[in-house]
Amino acid sequence: MTKETSTGSAPADEPGQPPKLTTSALAEQAPAKSVAQLITPFEVSGGVDESGKLLPVDYEKLTREFGATPITPQLLERFERVTGKKPHRFMRRGIVFSHRDLEKILDRYEKGEPFYLYTGRGPSSDSMHVGHAIPFEFTKYLQNTFDCPLVIQLTDDEKFMHSKKLKLEDVKRFALDNAKDIIAIGFDPAKTFMFNDTGGIMGTAFFDNVISMAKRITANQIFGTFGFNGGNNVGEIFFCAVQSATSFATSFPHIFGDNPTKVRTIPCLIPCAIDQDPYFRQCRENAAQMKYQKPSLIHSVFLPALQGPGSKMSASIDASAIFLTDTPNQIKNKINRFAFSGGQDTAEKQRELGGDTTVDVPFQYLTFFLEDDEELARIKNAYESGEMMTGEIKQICIRYLQEYVAGFQERRKAVTEEVRQEYFAFKPLAYKGNPNPVKKDAADDKKEGEKEKASQGHTKKMSVGRAKPEN
Ligand code: TYM
Repeated sequence: MTKETSTGSAPADEPGQPPKLTTSALAEQAPAKSVAQLITPFEVSGGVDESGKLLPVDYEKLTREFGATPITPQLLERFERVTGKKPHRFMRRGIVFSHRDLEKILDRYEKGEPFYLYTGRGPSSDSMHVGHAIPFEFTKYLQNTFDCPLVIQLTDDEKFMHSKKLKLEDVKRFALDNAKDIIAIGFDPAKTFMFNDTGGIMGTAFFDNVISMAKRITANQIFGTFGFNGGNNVGEIFFCAVQSATSFATSFPHIFGDNPTKVRTIPCLIPCAIDQDPYFRQCRENAAQMKYQKPSLIHSVFLPALQGPGSKMSASIDASAIFLTDTPNQIKNKINRFAFSGGQDTAEKQRELGGDTTVDVPFQYLTFFLEDDEELARIKNAYESGEMMTGEIKQICIRYLQEYVAGFQERRKAVTEEVRQEYFAFKPLAYKGNPNPVKKDAADDKKEGEKEKASQGHTKKMSVGRAKPEN
């Protein structure tokens, strides 16, 4: 791996499974030795310092190491100017913190040129946790903001190939189940297409892109990017092409039409947590050779595990996560019992010294789930100054999480099998894009004439055919 740096990570205990609480595991193994942070799609750990103390993930360092670009206040200003929408609280608070080529997407939106959103889920179990909801909540906001198509990929093949335990029928079932959870986040069915890799998508234009991408990826590239070695199965290696192929508009002629010259110019924007970035670094390296646009990305941090900010929630460790299926009581008990506190040991000390909001899990969760900036600032001040006790901040966190999960569960009840099928249908999507695109320079007009037609025509239904990748 060259242009876009690789991580050179060590193999995971069980690749593809939700990461273990690796920071604590590492700390137990080597309490007196520092361990560097490690972030891959299969493992998330902030590392351990010399004294054996667990460290939070250093996202600035990660951005540098991955070769991504930090999201600056200037970029947020431009986002607001171009879209006319206040940046999402995740953007305002640095939860969405880095990107690749987001400006290109803003340029296109400004000019009224088409693009789409792409995100996904690896269905490793039938229960998603609130951490998984983060990129989907953000994607919903972006879909509303840009009024553009959205493709959601469920990588049941990935979870099958990466797991020693899971059977094919398990992951297929999880995919359809998780799809209903994702639908309940609130995506517009007229603008959204969902699919699972082992479903009807195989044998379509999508698969042409998978194999064309696979042909360009060497095993060495995969070893470098993901830390795989000769012991990984060929499915794990091949899968990288499957996650990449969704980045190309030509994979979806039922959405974008079948004119390859036009459709290959349509890029996507991928919202995800930073762990998924290695897949797309790989994809970006080979996209140009296929005469496709490189995907743009927008990365979020992880919602930390209850145990602290050096790891992410894990679906396989009940005590690490708040699940979307948890009852109000379960939420209350988990926060009270397990949530790592940045508060002091005694009320007296808390009043004197205050709490540390940078590591306090209840406060961290509030930054994700509490919309009101002023209220968040009030809580921060009160907690840091020692006016607010640990028990109080936990109560506030419990209330917001109970509210969020109850709202989700209410919407989830309405997602029947018929509703799911609507999202999985190979149907044209209806979207409008920017209602007020800027006028281009007269000089640009002629050159851009063709593109203009494409952007105006993209609300129309397009014929379903098959666009060809550069083989
Ligand atoms: P998966 O199922 O591991 O995760 C789904 C999405 O959730 C993000 N994520 C989190 N975000 C915040 N806090 C957390 N604690 C947390 N845990 C997980 C992940 O980054 C991801 O965005 N291979 C992928 C599926 C996939 C995909 C994609 C994801 C296919 N195409 C395109 C994103 C974009 C996977 O197993 O995701």
